Amino acid sequence: MSVTIFHNPSCGTSRNTLKLIRHFGIDPEVVEYLVTPPSRQTLVDLIAQAGLSVREIVRKKGTPYAELGLDDADDSALLGAMGAHPILINRPLVVGERGVALCRPSDVVLDVLPLQPSNDAFKEDGAPFLRDERIAADDPALIAALRIGDLPVADLAAPGRRFFAYRTLAGTRVGFGGYELYGRDALLRSVVVLPNAQAKKIGRNLVPLLATRAYREGARVAWLFTLSAAGFFDKIGYQRRERDEAPAAILKTQQAKSLCPKSAVLMVKKLGF
Ligand SMILES: CC(C)(COP(=O)(O)OP(=O)(O)OC[C@H]1O[C@@H](n2cnc3c(N)ncnc32)[C@H](O)[C@@H]1OP(=O)(O)O)[C@@H](O)C(=O)NCCC(=O)NCCS
Repeated sequence: MSVTIFHNPSCGTSRNTLKLIRHFGIDPEVVEYLVTPPSRQTLVDLIAQAGLSVREIVRKKGTPYAELGLDDADDSALLGAMGAHPILINRPLVVGERGVALCRPSDVVLDVLPLQPSNDAFKEDGAPFLRDERIAADDPALIAALRIGDLPVADLAAPGRRFFAYRTLAGTRVGFGGYELYGRDALLRSVVVLPNAQAKKIGRNLVPLLATRAYREGARVAWLFTLSAAGFFDKIGYQRRERDEAPAAILKTQQAKSLCPKSAVLMVKKLGF
């Protein structure tokens, strides 16, 4: 099977993605795009096939983005800048049998590889690679896990919620997560790592995968309420906010109005790659 990865060996996410591809016995074509950048037309095609806009593929961190004043640049100028400074191309883009994906987090590469049985594999931080699957709101295993985690179950069946189960590559179920979508705002909810899987860096890898799914459905900001895990979300880049700083749609949710006590901490993170 032919797989191509536009790889940056200095990037942990890129290295993890390559590791996961090779775990499946695939020997991909590795394009070190800082050395051999894609042509402008190839880049245009890759971006379109990944279902992204030109701006979404542009990397800001660790690049001359600010120096080049690209905030107001149009697509043509952004493509020109990426041609001149390939570090501006976010990584890793992977072309697989089932499409093209910007693999951030690295587990997203599973979307474009053929699913096949596997043993577990681990990221550089020791966390297992995860695969997610959409599940129904009345999935008994989800409800049981939320009860154990002392998280709300009363509003699971209301419309507009999405829930996912997370398994290691060998199929061991390790946790759940979900979100409610309100335009560009998502309320992350029902994030739970099963007790015997906790403290193995699964939570810190599961939440970005969940947030990426929300992003692909249009969310650009993730909000959440938490009673006991604010310290966890602090560590993965979420910021604490006063309740009155939340958008009206978030304040109208059942979580905000009745299910999460006033003492629950409101947290937020801007989404993006
Ligand atoms: C909170 C939870 C999802 C964390 O999952 P996890 O897989 O155990 O977390 P990780 O191993 O990825 O931990 C990442 C870091 O957060 C820290 N952490 C984990 N849970 C924490 C908590 N409740 N409070 C503060 N810090 C926490 C870890 O010590 C670790 O710190 P380190 O990077 O310095 O080592 C999990 O404990 C859980 O399911 N709890 C019950 C349900 C819950 O509270 N969900 C959140 C609802 S919004």
